[in-house]
Amino acid sequence: MKTIIEPFRIKMVEPIRMTTKRERALVLEKAGYNPFFIPAEDCLIDLLTDSGTSAMSTEQWAGVMRGDESYAGSRSFFRFEGVAKSLTGMRHILPTHQGRAAERILFSLVAGRDQVIPSNTHFDTTRANIEFQGARAEDLLCDEGNDLAVRAPFKGNMNLDALKRLLEAAGPGRVPLVMLTVTNNAAGGQPVSMANIRATRDLAKSCGVPLFLDACRFAENAWFIREREEGYRDASLMEVAREMFSYADGCTMSAKKDGLSNIGGFLALNDDDLAARARSMLILTEGFPTYGGLAGRDLEAIAQGLMEVLDEDYMRYRIRSVEFLGEHLTAAGVPIVEPPGGHAVYVDAGRFLPHIPPHEFPGQALVCALYLEGGIRAVEIGSVMFGRRGPDGEFVPARHELVRLAIPRRVLTQSHVEYVVEVILEIQKHREEIRGLRFAREAPILRHFTSTFEPA
Ligand code: F0G
Repeated sequence: MKTIIEPFRIKMVEPIRMTTKRERALVLEKAGYNPFFIPAEDCLIDLLTDSGTSAMSTEQWAGVMRGDESYAGSRSFFRFEGVAKSLTGMRHILPTHQGRAAERILFSLVAGRDQVIPSNTHFDTTRANIEFQGARAEDLLCDEGNDLAVRAPFKGNMNLDALKRLLEAAGPGRVPLVMLTVTNNAAGGQPVSMANIRATRDLAKSCGVPLFLDACRFAENAWFIREREEGYRDASLMEVAREMFSYADGCTMSAKKDGLSNIGGFLALNDDDLAARARSMLILTEGFPTYGGLAGRDLEAIAQGLMEVLDEDYMRYRIRSVEFLGEHLTAAGVPIVEPPGGHAVYVDAGRFLPHIPPHEFPGQALVCALYLEGGIRAVEIGSVMFGRRGPDGEFVPARHELVRLAIPRRVLTQSHVEYVVEVILEIQKHREEIRGLRFAREAPILRHFTSTFEPA
């Protein structure tokens, strides 16, 4: 059969509310033109994020009921630890309330002034946690990754030449670790090849530097390796994932993505000494090492989710549903990051709205148009998120002006996705009428979350 169907049926439904364009105009104004301030109830199709928005399975809900809420030594922890160890092959698993808590613990221990942490591309919370420690976060994306329109199989890869130069120039002790984000969220949800993971590991190792994975979307990355890289055709997704982790010395994980859970994460480490210090920090900021920042029921949901995400039928449907959205937009001439990513389609708002200059935030303007036209909530990944102020307060744009349409896992049907396509094509017809925005209130860090805007 050619049609790839949702490999599940719907057991419980959550109504979504239709709104009028007039209502949405008011909501948008009240939210300061920032989608993070729009009440979820006022969104028809919420594509803000694929994080923590998954629908859980019957087995995950059963796990929730089985959760052991003991403070120490909970049965649910041992189940969670067993699954995470068997997947990552790592010696120490520290549960955290979400991915950034693992980042905070890790970087508070390894990063400091005069240090630099390279990555294929840091996600915004990772970058912020590094910079908060006074260290520098460096993005070294491969050349194909910077060309939005080119269709290449692994546009999330690390630029190995640039990494080599950085490691050689930095000198001893200045690079505490190298990071690889799989898939590369801030660079279009593009995958990283096994060859690139291996080569990054080899380079880092030759300089005595450990490699860490930001593994939020490890399973989607594993699928792309199996589909696109020579030598993996007959491997199971679990085998591919295990090989990816085998090259790393540690990882940070947000279980809100490929953990198919609504909350949770972990820090996995091989280094005994670092793990001991991280556990002390864990107790200080998250909780006792057998629950971290989580309830026993959450640990059960994650343990189950980490296994379900590697199910072949699930992942085939998952990748296909994102690809379907991308294909329809491309066919209609809407510029997107090619090819579609694992968890999202990224519209190139810079090209879609060429009349809006970067300092008037074309991505944010498109986000607002999506909401106004169809009640769709998306997020800007452009100069609002990654632009900055120069030394004299001047505007420094991001490299690209993107809008991410993130697809929650197991939540939407095909007609929801068809509706999203229709709304975007409607916007396309009158796109030259869309106006730019300027800051009404500019937040000092992670400014996409809390800044407000007004029409320019
Ligand atoms: N790393 C990556 C690659 C991420 O995409 C995220 C979160 C994190 C780390 C942090 O994890 O949210 O559990 O603390 N990304 C979400 C998103 C927020 O919408 O892409 P967290």
